[in-house]
Amino acid sequence: MNPELLAEIHAKSFITPRPWSASEFDELLIKDSIFLISEKRSFLLGMLTRFEAEILTIAVDPINRRIGIAEKLLNEFETLCLNENVEKIILEVAKNNAPALMLYEKCGYKIKGERNNYYTSPEGKKITAIVMSKLI
Ligand SMILES: CC(C)(COP(=O)(O)OP(=O)(O)OC[C@H]1O[C@@H](n2cnc3c(N)ncnc32)[C@H](O)[C@@H]1OP(=O)(O)O)[C@@H](O)C(=O)NCCC(=O)NCCS
Repeated sequence: MNPELLAEIHAKSFITPRPWSASEFDELLIKDSIFLISEKRSFLLGMLTRFEAEILTIAVDPINRRIGIAEKLLNEFETLCLNENVEKIILEVAKNNAPALMLYEKCGYKIKGERNNYYTSPEGKKITAIVMSKLI
């Protein structure tokens, strides 16, 4: 998937946090620590360090939702992490993003804390982030 398509799908998937541009994706993708998993106009972008992994973003094209693609992307990312001997995955998700919270809970992620006023909506509303993690 090229940066333009990633940005197009991201724009259909996010308001807050704001969608990322093609050039922002481009800058991320050249880093060795960044991994892209994609299929069916959907993708997960993750970052691996020596000790833990972070899901930076996940987006499924609206036409392909609720058929298990996000679960599959998360499973593939877990396999990649295990292959790299990384056993903990962390992520942040907006507190008002019910579909994503349900997804992560179904996939075994546990709530670890909250970051108040972490995101700002286009109207200036502050939104709390939930921090979740999973030991794999
Ligand atoms: C959240 C998102 C990635 C889910 O993708 P998806 O491919 O539709 O999810 P899946 O089909 O794999 O669903 C897996 C589980 O997640 C939960 N889930 C997913 N979408 C849901 C929704 N709209 N409402 C309630 N639960 C939902 C369900 O538990 C579902 O299992 P089920 O279908 O057996 O009930 C997708 O809605 C999306 O791209 N949203 C916009 C971007 C976003 O919010 N990303 C996460 C930011 S942290």
